[in-house]
Amino acid sequence: MIDFHSHILPNVDDGSKSHEETLKMLEEAKEAGFNKIVSTSHYAPNCFEVPEYKREGIIRDLNEEQNNEEIILGSEIFLTYNTVDLLKEYKASTINKTNYILFELPLREQFINLKNVINQLKENNYRLILAHPERYSVVQKNFNLLYELRDMGIHFQSNYASILGKYGLSAKYTVKKMFKNNLVSLLGSDAHRANSIYTIIPNAIEKILKIIPEEYLNDLTTNNAIKILNNEYID
Ligand SMILES: [Fe+2]
Repeated sequence: MIDFHSHILPNVDDGSKSHEETLKMLEEAKEAGFNKIVSTSHYAPNCFEVPEYKREGIIRDLNEEQNNEEIILGSEIFLTYNTVDLLKEYKASTINKTNYILFELPLREQFINLKNVINQLKENNYRLILAHPERYSVVQKNFNLLYELRDMGIHFQSNYASILGKYGLSAKYTVKKMFKNNLVSLLGSDAHRANSIYTIIPNAIEKILKIIPEEYLNDLTTNNAIKILNNEYID
């Protein structure tokens, strides 16, 4: 399996706080069944701004230390009007240097002119993946927004632990509805700490398998992520 969303790099955002914590998280991820982890450290202007070259260095050192190519470059980009510039200047990162980007929105507020910003990114050939849609109150209140976004070509990455109620009942209900309507393309841990999410992944998978068939689950845990890492289109 490929973990498509993680805050595993140490001291880059609000994720892992130390090299030791990162090593512990890597061990837990392996135990949960992941052989690759996309490091999607937050990139949010005026908040988390570690540029690409620095994160690449951290990844290179960790992969050398582990003696494999386990960790992959990415960002979780807080969408702003200048996201295109941040990408072109190699501040925020695409996923594995492909055209795909993982972006997030404010959890509790409406994003003004969302569709304009999305169109601007699309005009620059970026392919968009929205992180954990089930966590946004705008989506919880208006599920149809997901169909509008899907029709604009947006893919959705949900969090494993949403189905366990980790982000509240509304997120749990929303992700369940997303699974039932084939709206999820990818799954990620969104792990920020050791001893938190990776250890409950098996429980989440068990619950998800009660909603969707194994073949669809394999697309979400593995197959779609492989295609994206190779910059191929997904359905
Ligand atoms: Fe995240």
